[in-house]
This record gives sequence, C-alpha cells and structure tokens, in this order.
Amino acid sequence: MNPQLVFGESKIFHGCDYNPEQWLDYPEILEKDLALMQEAGCNIVSIGIFSWAKLEPEEGKFDFSWLDMIIEKLHAHGVKVILATPSGARPAWLDLKYPEVLRMTEDRQTRLHGHRQNHCLTSPVYREKVKIINTKLAERYAHHPAVVSWHISNEFGGYCHCPLCQKAFRRFLKERYGTLEKLNHAWWSTFWSHTYTDWDQIESPSKNLGEWCVHGLNLDFRRFSTAQCMDFCKAEIDTVKPFNPDLPVTTNFMEFFYDYDYFEFAKILDYTCWDSYPEWHVYEDPEYIASYTAMNHDLMRSLKQKPFVLMEHTVSCTNWRPLSRLKKPGMEKLSCLQAVAHGADSIQGFQWRKSRGSSEKFHGAIIDHVGHLNTRVGREVKELGGILQRLGEVAGTEVRAQAALVLDTQNRWALDDAQGPRNAGLHYLEVCLDYYHELWRRGVAVDVIDETCPLDKYKLVIAPMTYMIRGDYGQRVENFVKNGGVYVSTFWSGIVDENDLCFLGGFPGPLRQVLGIWDEEIECLDEGEQVKVISDTALSPELWGSYQGSLLCALVHPESAQTLAQYDSDFYRGMSAVTRNIYGMGRAYYVATRLDRSFLDNFVRILVDGLDLTRELSHPIAGVSAMARYSDTKKFLFIGNYSAEAKTVGLKGEYYDLINEQTRSGNLTLMPYGSAVLSCPL
Ligand code: GLA
Ligand code: ZN
Repeated sequence: MNPQLVFGESKIFHGCDYNPEQWLDYPEILEKDLALMQEAGCNIVSIGIFSWAKLEPEEGKFDFSWLDMIIEKLHAHGVKVILATPSGARPAWLDLKYPEVLRMTEDRQTRLHGHRQNHCLTSPVYREKVKIINTKLAERYAHHPAVVSWHISNEFGGYCHCPLCQKAFRRFLKERYGTLEKLNHAWWSTFWSHTYTDWDQIESPSKNLGEWCVHGLNLDFRRFSTAQCMDFCKAEIDTVKPFNPDLPVTTNFMEFFYDYDYFEFAKILDYTCWDSYPEWHVYEDPEYIASYTAMNHDLMRSLKQKPFVLMEHTVSCTNWRPLSRLKKPGMEKLSCLQAVAHGADSIQGFQWRKSRGSSEKFHGAIIDHVGHLNTRVGREVKELGGILQRLGEVAGTEVRAQAALVLDTQNRWALDDAQGPRNAGLHYLEVCLDYYHELWRRGVAVDVIDETCPLDKYKLVIAPMTYMIRGDYGQRVENFVKNGGVYVSTFWSGIVDENDLCFLGGFPGPLRQVLGIWDEEIECLDEGEQVKVISDTALSPELWGSYQGSLLCALVHPESAQTLAQYDSDFYRGMSAVTRNIYGMGRAYYVATRLDRSFLDNFVRILVDGLDLTRELSHPIAGVSAMARYSDTKKFLFIGNYSAEAKTVGLKGEYYDLINEQTRSGNLTLMPYGSAVLSCPL
C-alpha cells in the first residue's frame, strides 16, 4: 500500500463535518441524511467534534447510544468516519464544578463558561476529564470498521495566563535556560532594571497590566504556549492511540495561524489538515486570493511533506467575515480542485446541514434549511462529488517542488514584536506572497518551509525578511549556496538571533558572507510612499528598467556582491537596491526594498529560466493557475481559471481529461471559474 495514502485507500475522499447531535430530536432528518449524503457523493464525515454534553450529560454518566446509532448508519452506507475527541468545548457542569479549567486572559480575568477553545490546557482536572471521555470513545470505537482517523479537539488556539500556566511557563523556562543568569542574558533584562533574581518573579506578558517590552519573554511565552498546546494534544493522542495504533491522528489547523508554531506542532500528528475560508469574491484581483490560498495549501503539505486533508471549507459563504459573499457558480469545484492540486487527498466542508439556531445558522452548508440537495449549492456539491470519484489515481501522489519559500512563524512573532523600524505594519505575509505569487502564476511548484527545514533538495530558496536567524540556519544557507543553490534574501534579514538579541559586528549577521553585503541602516517609508529604483545595461541587462520600492529600504554596502539595481531617490540615491553574490557554486541575491510587480515579474522569470525549473504553464495567463501532481508513471495537471472571463490555455501534447472523460490536446478553454484535471503518462 502507498504509505502516502492518508486513509489507506486510493481515493480522493469527499465529505464534511457532520453534527447529528444537534438533530437527535428530529429522527426524520437523521433518517434523510444518509440518503442525501449518498446523493451528494459524500463518503467521509467528521463527527463528535462538539458532542461532549450529549456524550456525558452529567459527570460520569455516559450516553453513547446515539453515537452508536449514527456510526452504524454511516457504516451501512459506506461513509467513513473521522472521529473527534470532544475537548474543543466543555459541558456546563464541568465548568461550574471545576472552575480551574476556565482560561485566564492576559488581563488576568477568568473567563465565564461558554463559547469554545477557552479552557486552560495545563489544568490537571481538565486533562483528566478529557482523558476519561477519550478513553471511553477509544474503547468503543477504535476498532470500528467505519472509523478511519482521530480528529483531536478542534482548532486549538489561544493562550492562558492562569496561575497553573504561570507555573508551567516557569518550568519550561528552567528547562530551556537552566539558570537565571542565562535567561537574564537572553532576555537582556538589565534594560530598565528588569533582572530576575527568582524564577517566581517571572510572569507571562500582559500588555495592559504588566510586562511586554522584554522581547525574549514575549517570544518564549509563544514558544511555551505552542509546547503546552502540543503537550495537551499529545496527551489526547496518547490516550486514544494505544487502542488502535493503526488509526492516524490529526488536528485541524488554520490559515497562516499565529498563536502556535505549526512546524513544531505537526511533528506529533500523522497527517495535517486545515480549515480554509478564503474571501473569494471580496478582492478585486482574483489572482491574489487564489495564490494566497495556494500558499497556505503548500504550507500544509510541506509541514509533513505528504498529502494533507482539507478538513473544512464552506460550500457557499461564511457568516463570520464582514461580508458573507456567496461563492459564484463553479467556485466550489474550482477551490476544492485547487486543494487537490496542491496535495489534498480529502475534501471536506463545514458543515453537512445548517444548524437551525445559534451562531452558525446562516453559515454555508451542503444542506440548507430547505432540506434537500436541489439547490444551486447542492447541485454543485453533487457535481464535485462525481468529479472526485474520478480522481482516485491522484490520491497519494506527490507535488514535486524544486523551489521553496521560507515562511517562519517564530520569525513572524519576532518581527511583529520588534518595536521598529515599522510599527505601522511590516506586511510579512504579503511580502512572502509577492514572491510566491510570481512562482504560482508560472505554474512552478513551491514548498513552504521554515528555517528548521532542510534546504538541499531545492534549486531555489526564497526567504523574505528572515529578521530572526534561528539555530544553524545561517550556516545551512551558506552550504546550500556553496553547493550550487540559488538563494534570495530581502531587507530586514539577519538582524537578531533566536533569543531576539541583535547580531553584533554588522547586519545581516550570519548571512553577511553569503550575501556579500553589509546592511548599515534601514529607512522606513510611509504607507503608499515609494522610492525609485533603476537598473541599466551596465548594472544588469536582464533587469534593465525603472521600478518602485516601498515599505522599507535597507541601505547596504556591497562587499563581495555585485549591484544589479540602485536607488534613484532620496539621500541614498546610487546605493545598491538589488545585489547578487557569487558564492561557491551558487548565487545569493539580496533585494533591499519591497519592489513592485514589474520588478518581481522580471526577477522571478530570470531565476526560473536560469534554473530551468519545471513550469506547468509556458507563460503566465492572468487569472489562471496550473499545478501538477506526479505518480511514478503519470502526471496529473490541474488548471484553474479564477477570473470572471473565459480563458484559453494551450496544451503541450495529448492529455486525458479526467472530468469529462475524453482526450484533449491543443487549446483548452476554461469557463469563468472553470477547472480542468488532465493526466498524461510520464
Ligand atoms: C471553524 C470551526 C467550525 C466552524 C467553522 C465556521 O473552522 O472549526 O466548527 O465554526 O469555523 O466557518
Ligand atoms: Zn491556564
């Protein structure tokens, strides 16, 4: 069996979150659900996510009868089950009896009962109660033939500042630093007389009430919160896994999530999955949101370097964005096939049936309040179900990325915390997207990695704003370039070490030699302000042109690097704006400001052509993307049109059209929001 198959079957699964616990008083509806699922081509559901109050209505009194009934019904209809542990939301009895489980805010306020993901992940009582219910679930269902995976909790997130967490934080710090002397040095605590002389003096950061200026403290609290959440999740995994070690575990991640470092978190999971809710029809530029979403899919695949699951998406609209725009016809198919193109092997929606009441009654769902599938949305979901059934061969295949983008969460925390040079916003994700987008629109596959990931398998590594250089990253970049790799760095890189202490002896610190520059100062521009950057034939015939820089301007001196473009405004006119350093067998570029799209278009084209990276489109077509997955013998090409106009793509060679089941060659026309999945032998 292909070890890359998430659920052990050569199938692209299709399904949703299913919340039958909300409908136990409506047996006729539960009865109808299964027939409708078959009609929609749904063959997998996540259940039990928020079911604790129905499973343990009173402390120690359990009722599994309804879940037994639902799982049997699903099984009888061939629908697979991803069984959730219910720790995402607590029953009221638990909070009332054991208030220590309630989360404490940064302002040291204990939350009331209500909502979800607002418990203390340190609380021994909470961990014990979760263990009891999880053990019961595992005893009962771990070997059920319908159950294919565990779904641990739901969307872990947030920080707790309660006394239990303060103690755990101090334990974490003792382990990390060993002595207060080391901690004081790492946190530069002599500043403002903030030296710690006893571990008990350490408190988690609090913007309104206490400490938030010690950057090392802020950073370590985020690291601690990642570790603590992982520890909680691991405890859940360790409870359920022994009952059936073959059942994979996951927990659902979120869009470029800030609270935790997912590169750490993914280590304890068997596969990754995420909940994707892009604002498809809010932006004027349809390519922007398409490549932003693609970048997130690539991150989810890269976390474990294998196929992932789209655990949630909406089939029509959300109800929690400022604007609840409907997905236009075609968009449901297009967005789901985009996920498959980037490595998803199961496509699941939130949720099966709209809740009748409470806060998600107007959130999109497969079954609307009308109760059948003969709706615009229902018909498209059915169509998608049919298409996914024809893509079985794609399951377990790989995306072959020769390029990587470094997007590092710990770096992002440190960047935002830095207090200067631009507190008005550093736009880190947007700058990453600037570069990603140029690769995406050429159909170049990209892994989204962080500073801890290996670099050697790539030909091109683009690493914008690596302000914080963690561990041996600098050394590994040197080796990568020395051995022939092409590396792209930008302004505000190589400034602090992993404790957030500035590098002494000249920026960009450990990257100085490989980039061949000294970064002396950085100028901050206002929102919308631009500086002129020029390149001429003497500097670089290829980059010849006039461009605009924005955001930040590093003022650098080339040491061994060659200048390819210069600033043409302000007092730094004539200084280097783009450099290239030949280092060993490779090249390292430095882009000193946020350059405009015409520069990025030129620059990335030169890189892609120079390295002869595999491109799935011979030239960019506005609004269109093409991505491929590969088996040993076949290529599967996914083409999507994110624009409101029909687009024509010229195919090189002959393909089999897996959606329409016919051969194709020559020109392929895609309708607005249309998509195609083609295969050809390798
Ligand atoms: C999240 C949650 C779901 C649901 C959706 C709504 O992803 O996991 O339970 O609330 O949001 O978009
Ligand atoms: Zn706590």
